[in-house]
Amino acid sequence: MKMQSFTMHHHLAFLLLFSAPLVAFVMSTPENFQQCLSLHSENTTAISKLVYTPINSSYSSVLDITIQNLRFLTPSAPKPLLIVTPLHVSHVQAAITCSRRYGLQMRIRSGGHDYEGLSYLSKVPFVIMDMVNLRSIAVDVEDETAWVQSGATVGELYYRIAEKSKTLGFPAGVCPTVGVGGHFSGGGYGTMLRKYGLAVDNVIDAQLVNAQGRLLDRESMGEDLFWAIRGGGGGSFGVVVSWKVKLVPVPSTVTVFTLLRTLEQHATKLVHQWQLIGNELPNDLFMRVILQSSNSGPNGTRTMEASFNTLYLGGVDALLEVTRSSFPELNVTRQDCTEMSWIESILYFAGFSGEPLEVLLNRSSNTKLYFKHKSDYVKEPIPKSGLEGMWERFFEEDVGVAQMIWNHYGGRMSEISESALPFPHRAGVLYKIQHLTSWTDGGDEVASKHVSWIRSFYSYMAPYVSKSPREAYINYRDLDIGTNNVKGDTGYKQASAWGKKYFKNNFDRLVRVKTAVDRGNFFRHEQSIPPFSF
Ligand SMILES: Cc1cc2nc3c(=O)[nH]c(=O)nc-3n(C[C@H](O)[C@H](O)[C@H](O)COP(=O)(O)OP(=O)(O)OC[C@H]3O[C@@H](n4cnc5c(N)ncnc54)[C@H](O)[C@@H]3O)c2cc1C
Ligand SMILES: *[C@@H]1O[C@H](CO)[C@@H](O)[C@H](O)[C@H]1NC(C)=O
Ligand SMILES: *[C@@H]1O[C@H](CO)[C@@H](O)[C@H](O)[C@H]1NC(C)=O
Ligand SMILES: *[C@@H]1O[C@H](CO)[C@@H](O)[C@H](O)[C@H]1NC(C)=O
Ligand SMILES: *[C@@H]1O[C@H](CO)[C@@H](O)[C@H](O)[C@H]1NC(C)=O
Ligand SMILES: *[C@@H]1O[C@H](CO)[C@@H](O)[C@H](O)[C@H]1NC(C)=O
Repeated sequence: MKMQSFTMHHHLAFLLLFSAPLVAFVMSTPENFQQCLSLHSENTTAISKLVYTPINSSYSSVLDITIQNLRFLTPSAPKPLLIVTPLHVSHVQAAITCSRRYGLQMRIRSGGHDYEGLSYLSKVPFVIMDMVNLRSIAVDVEDETAWVQSGATVGELYYRIAEKSKTLGFPAGVCPTVGVGGHFSGGGYGTMLRKYGLAVDNVIDAQLVNAQGRLLDRESMGEDLFWAIRGGGGGSFGVVVSWKVKLVPVPSTVTVFTLLRTLEQHATKLVHQWQLIGNELPNDLFMRVILQSSNSGPNGTRTMEASFNTLYLGGVDALLEVTRSSFPELNVTRQDCTEMSWIESILYFAGFSGEPLEVLLNRSSNTKLYFKHKSDYVKEPIPKSGLEGMWERFFEEDVGVAQMIWNHYGGRMSEISESALPFPHRAGVLYKIQHLTSWTDGGDEVASKHVSWIRSFYSYMAPYVSKSPREAYINYRDLDIGTNNVKGDTGYKQASAWGKKYFKNNFDRLVRVKTAVDRGNFFRHEQSIPPFSF
């Protein structure tokens, strides 16, 4: 509490250096901000419906609704002075102009899935630009493209595509409630990455509002900025309002299976083998492994469960041929497999069974948890002894909510050069690991126990994963790997510690683009790309 009022006081004193009216503004923000918006918006019809402040009864529900990580859904988490929910592009432009004018930091939120809550938390007075109402999707079947606004979820995108075509799809994330805005900004992958690469490998145009409040498209923003926003991480270059994507062909029948093997059913050998064959599998096959501990060993003892969670872009006969020749040890049978449409496979991977397709339109359909996740890239197969050490550590996590999700790269991912887009994890990656721990009780002690467990697990993994830099996936945001100093100094050196992990050498180009388009560092957060300081 003391800390907080000090920060606030400090901030006001800082503002005072620039202008006294500013201080008055902070004290009477809502009215002035709303007036400022009216002054700068082309469409003023609905201005009063756009701005929520703590006095509005729906402020909390609007704030909380898309927060995914329950760790940040607490009364003591920092709250925004205002939430702006634009209905028109000119509202986005006006909100940027007005936030700048009054020295308020802006956090941009689309789906709210950021692992560290950076789209809705800040330590200084801030505004949330919530894209939730900018969510239209226009699918052009003939052209095989779609324009999708950032506030849409990937589930809505899949639904709108499937509504118009049974043989077109899009290669984005597995969880339907993920927002397009943040997801595409960080790359975005799902069950078709081996065939078609990342979501951003299939983005062909975008509309962005920059720090000056100007609306740009691919042509007017130029290729450098267009490169940067396709994977350089959200919240650094501007507000992306919409994206034009190239849809991809999908067969009318796909096949899925999930096979669970415990240690007693040779999980260690199978997981070891999975590492060796994965990159050579046909691009039509996606087979991730989900690892967790359970009490399903003999007589209820602890064991590991490895789930081989698979999508094949084709029918069951072709799939069985592939698994028999490439991975006979898994013993996949016809009874294990189910044929379905591509859109049904989206529901299958999201954990639904029997629900209508409309569940993809439900923004709050997934279960919210308290969580801390991390990521790694593996370039050499991990020996069996290394795997056995992991299982030991999983048995220590006594609440049983630790998981790893491993997914192969190879295929299309290896064909795209490391510098084609900011996302650098391409050829040479065998697979990515997501480390997860989640829990359902909000106490600090519980949280710190799980967080320490996952940090120590991450240390254990160091010898087995990529080194110098130890690579990480920006969409699995992890502030443990380093942060900017949000109080002002966002120097290159400090930022490159985390930046090289997410972007390798592309980080330097991102810094150059940032310097060219937002030298004043208006769009900033704990892991935003810093401009060179002069
Ligand atoms: C349950 C769950 C499942 C997931 N599954 C996958 C998966 O299968 N594949 C995968 O690749 N990732 C997955 N992710 C990670 C997900 O891709 C990232 O968390 C992504 O950044 C979320 O986007 P969002 O719009 O929902 O998040 P937000 O929290 O709204 O935004 C994330 C970041 O992007 C910025 N941002 C948001 N909108 C914009 C915009 N319009 N313009 C500029 N910057 C913006 C924010 O400021 C923030 O920094 C998953 C996450 C969760 C919680
Ligand atoms: C202005 O916004 C209102 C309310 O959203 C809408 O009905 C109207 O069509 C818009 N006008 C223009 C010119 O865009
Ligand atoms: C919030 O409250 C103000 C003041 O009562 C009102 O003018 C505004 O319309 C409310 N905002 C919303 C989104 O309803
Ligand atoms: C399970 O427990 C029973 C009864 O205690 C015992 O007879 C049996 O040997 C145990 N099985 C294993 C695999 O440990
Ligand atoms: C696969 O099936 C064969 C024959 O039924 C069996 O001997 C073998 O142990 C199985 N392999 C695994 C890994 O379960
Ligand atoms: C959306 O999902 C939630 C959680 O499963 C559920 O409670 C709610 O009824 C669903 N809403 C709709 C409109 O289906």
